[in-house]
Amino acid sequence: MATPSSNRPDLDDSINVHEAHASLGDDSVAVGREKSIRENGMEPVGLWMMLACAGVLLAGGAVLGKGGGMFAYDELVQEDYMRAPAPGGEEVILPPAPAGQMFAKEGAKIYGKCIGCHGADGGGGNGIPPLAGSEWVTGNTDQLSQIILNGLKGPISVAGVEYNNNMPAMRDGLGPKELAYIMTYIRNEWGNSASIVTPEMASAALAIADTGGNGQVDVAKLKASHDKMLPGEPLDPETLLDPETLEPVDAPASE
Ligand code: HEC
Repeated sequence: MATPSSNRPDLDDSINVHEAHASLGDDSVAVGREKSIRENGMEPVGLWMMLACAGVLLAGGAVLGKGGGMFAYDELVQEDYMRAPAPGGEEVILPPAPAGQMFAKEGAKIYGKCIGCHGADGGGGNGIPPLAGSEWVTGNTDQLSQIILNGLKGPISVAGVEYNNNMPAMRDGLGPKELAYIMTYIRNEWGNSASIVTPEMASAALAIADTGGNGQVDVAKLKASHDKMLPGEPLDPETLLDPETLEPVDAPASE
């Protein structure tokens, strides 16, 4: 039992603080200072618990907003959106280029049909005549076109050397454009220099091959029927072409 001499509360004694205060009367300062008793489940939440909850909500919101894409409208709808170019397929706007250069560039790809026999350097070999330095290549375009389209047999003299061999028709896959490009290419590669063959001229060559009967040509037939240039407007090799269409562009755009 607490000794009355102590003015501190006796913790062993079960003092009901509220009862003790109530006995002092309702307007006692001590009663006002005391926290009122709440119903079960209505107790106030501790400050640290509140802060902890706020932290969890903040973190959760950040995760949803960022990773969940829930609020990322500006990433979904973008003004002036343009599709990114496919990997490796960057869009490059090429300037117009001279016709001679463009035709030869295309022709170089088609030369894959001939390279196995006439060689990368156009030098021929193994009984196959060269294209480099050949008068048949840089000469009349009608003759050249018919050799390529129909193939060639029998003796032929190329750059002073006699050949007597057999070349198959190469017409497969050659339309007016392809024929024009391959002819322009071999006429201007390996030191050769001769006029451009246009798709219009090549188109005439295909028509001539159609009416000339099938089968390989020989030198006699070339001399008798094809010793001339193909009809068509000549094209200045310096004429600027649109790199997409390979059609002549009008005077370079001046802005
Ligand atoms: C299978 C081999 C072979 C292929 C492929 C070939 N040629 Fe020939 N070419 C020959 C032979 C062989 C001759 C000579 C034929 C003869 O002696 O009558 C010849 C002759 C020529 C000639 C006339 C002679 C000369 O050398 O100038 C030209 C032009 C020519 N070929 C162009 C071409 C072109 C262009 C291609 C591709 C579109 C081509 N050839 C594909 C074998 C080939």
